[in-house]
Amino acid sequence: MKNFKLNNPYLIVILITSVFISLSSCNNKTARESRSVPDAFKQNERLGRGGNLGNILYEFETWDKEREMKELDLIREIGLQGVRINTGPFSHVTDKPPHTLSEAFLERLDWTVDQALSRGLTAIIDNHEYHVLSDDPMGNHGMFLSTWRQMAERYQDYPDNVYYGVLNEPNGHLTPYLWNYLLADVYKVIREIDPYRTLVIGPGDWNGIDALEFLELPEDDRNIIVEIHYYSPHRFTHQGTSWSEGSDEWLGMTWRGTTEEKQAIIDDFQIAVDWAEKHDRPLFLGEFGVYEKADMESRAAWLGFVVEQAEKYHFSWSIWELMYTSFGIYDPVQKSWIEPLKDAILPPE
Ligand code: BGC
Repeated sequence: MKNFKLNNPYLIVILITSVFISLSSCNNKTARESRSVPDAFKQNERLGRGGNLGNILYEFETWDKEREMKELDLIREIGLQGVRINTGPFSHVTDKPPHTLSEAFLERLDWTVDQALSRGLTAIIDNHEYHVLSDDPMGNHGMFLSTWRQMAERYQDYPDNVYYGVLNEPNGHLTPYLWNYLLADVYKVIREIDPYRTLVIGPGDWNGIDALEFLELPEDDRNIIVEIHYYSPHRFTHQGTSWSEGSDEWLGMTWRGTTEEKQAIIDDFQIAVDWAEKHDRPLFLGEFGVYEKADMESRAAWLGFVVEQAEKYHFSWSIWELMYTSFGIYDPVQKSWIEPLKDAILPPE
């Protein structure tokens, strides 16, 4: 040890840094070990009322931090509790395995999650790049597992009001049966790294209520919230949308809350409620909404009734594209709430 000189400044820095690193990794480890598995029903209450931030995390060359911070303030101000952060991880990986996520993507996601948490919001990291898996489920299976492995590693020490939304709306070639197969694999990957995280998982067929009966979840894992999406009647909610073929012919469809119209929604929700009771799982209505081409009165009536029914059964909920005019309740150009829609989902006391 004759060369050991503690007055060497480089050595001191290295020593302090390594003590710090090993202490903080011990702390992380101890913190992890002393954690307990949260109860999904309580976690669902924390999620409560909320909204989808929209497809902001696919491409983010135009990352407007000021605007996003202001909008998160507004979201908090009107009393919402949860945000579903819609991400596009597959657009930000290296082509070849192990499909390393770009640091730019992860930093962007960190920022959004941190901003949400600093405002006391519950945050779901939603893998919203569903079309990639729906087009070629087996071809993209490895990338699906690898991106979740990396995200679970990144967020494993985050507080328990960050949840993982495993995959938005499986559809197409990713049939409800195949989804169960991929889900079992990705579940193992996530749980090996992060056994405490609340997972948000929906059925196949676009997270449709009718596909709940095919969904297979690990029976003894009670830290799972089940997600459903609702846009019925589709021709009413999607009238005039560029991505629904023939939807111009649906323009002018109204929803006035007639007995039959309401009963259709009640019946659909009853299927979800029966399933949830049978399987003892909490439900999250992760997306719902009416496109801006429908008339305002109908949009407000439909939104109000859907939220009323969801809350009657203690579903948490998240409106699609909260801060956009398309389906949401905010006009970012005018910088103002669309009052009839806001009042519909958050009725003034
Ligand atoms: C899709 C959006 C679409 C919405 C309603 C979402 O899951 O990502 O692109 O606007 O559903 O159709």
